[in-house]
Amino acid sequence: MEQILRNFFLFLSKNRFFTKLAKRYGLRFGAGRFVAGETIPSAVKTIKELNLKGMSVTIDHLGEFIDSKEEAREAANGCIEAIKAIAEHDLDSQLSLKLTSMGLDISEELALENMRLILDVAEEKNVFVTIDMEDHERCERTLQIFKKLREDYEHIGTVLQSYLYRTVEDIEDLNKYNPNLRLVKGAYKESPKVAFPDKKDVDENYKKIIKMHLLNGNYTAVATHDDAMIEYTKQLVEENHIPKDQFEFQMLYGIRVDRQEELVKEGYHMRVYVPYGNDWYGYFMRRLAERPANVAFVLKGVFGK
Ligand code: FDA
Repeated sequence: MEQILRNFFLFLSKNRFFTKLAKRYGLRFGAGRFVAGETIPSAVKTIKELNLKGMSVTIDHLGEFIDSKEEAREAANGCIEAIKAIAEHDLDSQLSLKLTSMGLDISEELALENMRLILDVAEEKNVFVTIDMEDHERCERTLQIFKKLREDYEHIGTVLQSYLYRTVEDIEDLNKYNPNLRLVKGAYKESPKVAFPDKKDVDENYKKIIKMHLLNGNYTAVATHDDAMIEYTKQLVEENHIPKDQFEFQMLYGIRVDRQEELVKEGYHMRVYVPYGNDWYGYFMRRLAERPANVAFVLKGVFGK
């Protein structure tokens, strides 16, 4: 049953019609539990609260599936505004974004052009930008764009997913760029031709890439809510004398808040991924797919308590 629900929500997450409809009608169905409002001021308020609790943030200007150059430029401008707000309010926050919102599906040149506009401001304001990883179809293009940008900019990182067979090779290939990478298990529905179908293998590969990237001496963001992976990382860094400023834990806004606070108390660098904006639908559906138990919150959102 859980697998059926998971596939159902992942199917819904790709629906362009619902994506557009959701933008028009605003945050609904309990999405506010995972999304910090629709505007920059609401996001700034959330970042300040998290910073006061000792947590860093990466703010995600939500957006995917755009259809025109104008929409892509609008999304890029939204990211630039967010970077300026981070600097203006002196917040401990980075920025995350998706290349599809920068126009990747229209052309790679358009996505690159928009990324350069954003990174020019990010370098000036000293704000780090992470390119989220989307589905496998876009992985190679995303990494090519990352490599091009990394040659010209310091404040740029990206994400690798342990469910993909290719990822171990990508870790090796990217090593020459000394990249700051966020490592995740992967959130999209992928074919067994490109991704491990069994969770056990995804977890083993996750441990493997964490170890490789850390031992290569690169900055590593371990982005997971899974205690087994967190404990594995803690042990690995201790055994290998890896300093605490070479890695951080990351979790999503609204998920395992108690665990986030514990990690801060234990002296680890904790970063919370805070999405905001009106394009919340796909993100929200992927969170429901990860944990269908969250559907209870949706039902409360629809029918009241
Ligand atoms: P997983 O889903 O494997 O669950 C393992 C265990 O963790 C569970 O059994 C439970 O104990 C605990 N757990 C998990 N979720 C919980 C919850 N909601 N409440 C309580 N316990 C829970 N993906 C992607 O493809 N591209 C990207 O760019 C990103 N970016 C990203 C940033 C950040 C900061 C995070 C944390 C995650 C992503 N992801 C992502 C999503 C990622 O790929 C993955 O889908 C989710 O993090 C879920 O996998 P986990 O490793 O968290 O645990």
